[in-house]
Amino acid sequence: MAHDTTDDGMQASRRTFLKATGVATAAAATGAGVGTAAAQPDVDSLVGDLTLEQKAAQMTQVAISSFEAEPEESNVPDSFGVDTVGEYFSELGVGSILSGGAEPPSFDGETVVQGINALQEYNLENADHDIPFLYGVDATHGNGLLAGATVFPQRLNMGATRDLSLIEAAERHTSDATASMGAHWTFAPTTDLQRDPRWGRFFEGISEDPKLEADVSRVRARALEDDDRLTACVKHFAAYSIPNNGNDRAPASTSLRDLRTNILPPYREALKSEPGTVMVNSGSINGVPAHASHWLLTTLLRDTYGYEGMVISDWDDLNRMITNHDYAPDFETATEMAINAGVDMYMIGNGGDAPGPVQFIDTVVSLVEDGAIPMERIDEAVRRILELKADLGLFEQPTVDESRIETVLGGAQETAETMAKESMVLLKNTDDTLPLSGDESVLLTGPGVDSNGNNTRALMQHGGWTLGWQGASAGGPFPRQNLLEAELRARVGSLTHVPTSYENTTWWAGEGDGGNQQSDENGNFDFTAEQRSRVESAGPESDVVVVVLGEGTHNEGFGDRDELVLDESQQALLDTVVESTDDSAPIIGVMLAGSPRGSPETFSQLDALLFAGQPGSDGGVAIAETLVGEYNPSGKLPFSWPENVGTTPVQYTRYDPTSTGGTDNTAIYEYGHGLSYTDFEYGSVSVTQPTVGNPANQSEVTVSVEVTNTGRMAGEHIVEVFNTQSYGSVLQPRRRLLGYERVSLGPGELTTVDVTVDLTALEVVPGDVLGLGPKVVEAGEYELTVGQDGPTATLTVQNTASITDPDPVPGLPDGSGSTPGRGNNGNNGNGNNTSRDPTMEDVVDLLDEVRGRS
Ligand code: BGC
Ligand code: BGC
Repeated sequence: MAHDTTDDGMQASRRTFLKATGVATAAAATGAGVGTAAAQPDVDSLVGDLTLEQKAAQMTQVAISSFEAEPEESNVPDSFGVDTVGEYFSELGVGSILSGGAEPPSFDGETVVQGINALQEYNLENADHDIPFLYGVDATHGNGLLAGATVFPQRLNMGATRDLSLIEAAERHTSDATASMGAHWTFAPTTDLQRDPRWGRFFEGISEDPKLEADVSRVRARALEDDDRLTACVKHFAAYSIPNNGNDRAPASTSLRDLRTNILPPYREALKSEPGTVMVNSGSINGVPAHASHWLLTTLLRDTYGYEGMVISDWDDLNRMITNHDYAPDFETATEMAINAGVDMYMIGNGGDAPGPVQFIDTVVSLVEDGAIPMERIDEAVRRILELKADLGLFEQPTVDESRIETVLGGAQETAETMAKESMVLLKNTDDTLPLSGDESVLLTGPGVDSNGNNTRALMQHGGWTLGWQGASAGGPFPRQNLLEAELRARVGSLTHVPTSYENTTWWAGEGDGGNQQSDENGNFDFTAEQRSRVESAGPESDVVVVVLGEGTHNEGFGDRDELVLDESQQALLDTVVESTDDSAPIIGVMLAGSPRGSPETFSQLDALLFAGQPGSDGGVAIAETLVGEYNPSGKLPFSWPENVGTTPVQYTRYDPTSTGGTDNTAIYEYGHGLSYTDFEYGSVSVTQPTVGNPANQSEVTVSVEVTNTGRMAGEHIVEVFNTQSYGSVLQPRRRLLGYERVSLGPGELTTVDVTVDLTALEVVPGDVLGLGPKVVEAGEYELTVGQDGPTATLTVQNTASITDPDPVPGLPDGSGSTPGRGNNGNNGNGNNTSRDPTMEDVVDLLDEVRGRS
């Protein structure tokens, strides 16, 4: 990966200069904008010039639903204390705005860029300071906020490719496309380990393997900052993805051992790219809301990881300490806890009962005046915010060139198409059903069309965060896209299309009727009598049937599900297909879903099954080319496919045993599963340095393995090296990924593939149940296995040593122990935590204080 080094270097120097001088760098301004250029400010003196109110306002981010500063009809929430979007600047002087949910006030690129420029000019003319605002959006898989944009495959598909340089190329385009629309900030990458398919955000995870999640997160965080005008956001720090019951923002409990071995490394690795911002986990962990955790946000993130960027809350999460977690009795307490814990900016959503910007600013001011939040803590937060703005070049050039968006939007087609193809995972292919010859008459069926005749399958192809929070609307607008029906029709003898019903259930549907909960299927699916008779008449005429299966678009808590079954109408459709086709006509499933769906019984009715995930803009071409063999599938599952929800989570890195009873809880398709139209065979394997003296001095070895394409078709293959057997002082995972490499081989071709094996992936936290000690690679023998059950080799580690984490967990007595949120009370009073554990007295004080306020 040639650009790794170069980029690391560039990135580092940009930020390092910033740190060294305390003054923003003139990161070579990008192109000409339309605003007035000002000189870079001296951040320290700027902080000194601001009043306390102005500082609190810089710490405020507010969601906007209009780009008009003074629209005729205001859409600012009543409770927010101002009348127009313009007054956020003229009256309050807020530091940042956002369009959450991938939903800007307009989906038209030009309208957005003009609106943002106009608003920035309004801000600079009318605010009582000369500080540009930061505009943040969720560009999570491409700039999925604009009609005609290229959306890349969802994160789950990215993980299936194992292709770091391709993912990096994609995120460079996202960076460009997002900066061109006038945004300065994308709330990406999501680096939460993907573990529980009941969770409505499973599709946002790269992998259940910590190394893969970490590698991809690192390159994404870096590439998203490729445009100097865009900053990334590593989120959601930390442990957002492991709520015990699988529901979004529900409590998570885990051990320090699991945290330090599996959950934290992806965030930490992503932080190596020095992203400008970090977003906090909206949930609670081991009994503490992350937003109140001084340990997470300061002791770990700042003091241990050395992170110097800015920390933003998630959506309304200070308020959620009251409404969700029932932890803080009132907004004052929540605000005090969050800011003292380390939150620098508060993301304020769309109103309702939640406190708005005026209340937040007033609350911060009075907490500082009362001495509950040290002034130094406020100055630190504001300095970070202003440094970020300066680093992005906003003072020098507050607005952007309005013509650029048009040239960028919809670009990177080749990257998106390659990524979609590389992410196709062929789960099953009995008797070489696939590829099709291309001469067949095909019946294509499965969801979706809605009752208005809209093509709702397009929504299944893109998933959430695509021109809308829960995904695009059925009637559009849509990103640039090609769709399966047309692409397949162009590649086969003839095609009959019988789309079945899929109504996109919006999250607000059902209000007053059990709440805003989506169905477990994430959509309303149906198979009408009319559709049935069309399938029954087309079935006998067809050489082959392609049945689309899957789930509807969803996001966050509205995507949570208690079951992973396919909707029963999809099962009814499949039964009808089986009944109405000749035994010689194969049935092929194509699954469009952001999670593992369906049961072994259903899969047994299929001759072949292609898991397409949510492949984005170029999903149509990718699926069609794969079905006819113009592309030879090479993707591998980045997660384990559970048989049913009762066995989740069933990540392959789990400890043994899964069960000692009669239940077989193994996955139906393991992490790493994925078939090809050709065969790859492994020959001999060797480790270039089979004995490592001290892993602290040597953290990598190379495994070389011969791979031959023994089939008749060219193809790509991902060689993965796992540790499969080892003994240590604590349980070892069943398997864990140490390295991987994607290779391309012609028919009959043999090559030797060198896979870099990363010994940090072997680190464990030794010691008894607490898991507090340094993380180490323990001395011993490690069995290395190539692929699922390929050849093995032995790696011997002679000395136990730490590579990443040589110190005991921070926060122990004489570390920097703290009481959550209020941990600063009774310490040195400047927001820096002192080095001691809370005493019984501290705890009593804390309880009194919390109760006293309720
Ligand atoms: C999500 C974040 C997102 C934010 C803004 C929150 O609900 O948890 O991931 O960045 O909204 O849309
Ligand atoms: C916003 C999303 C946000 C969600 C949080 C929605 O109204 O559009 O950005 O993620 O609320 O609950």
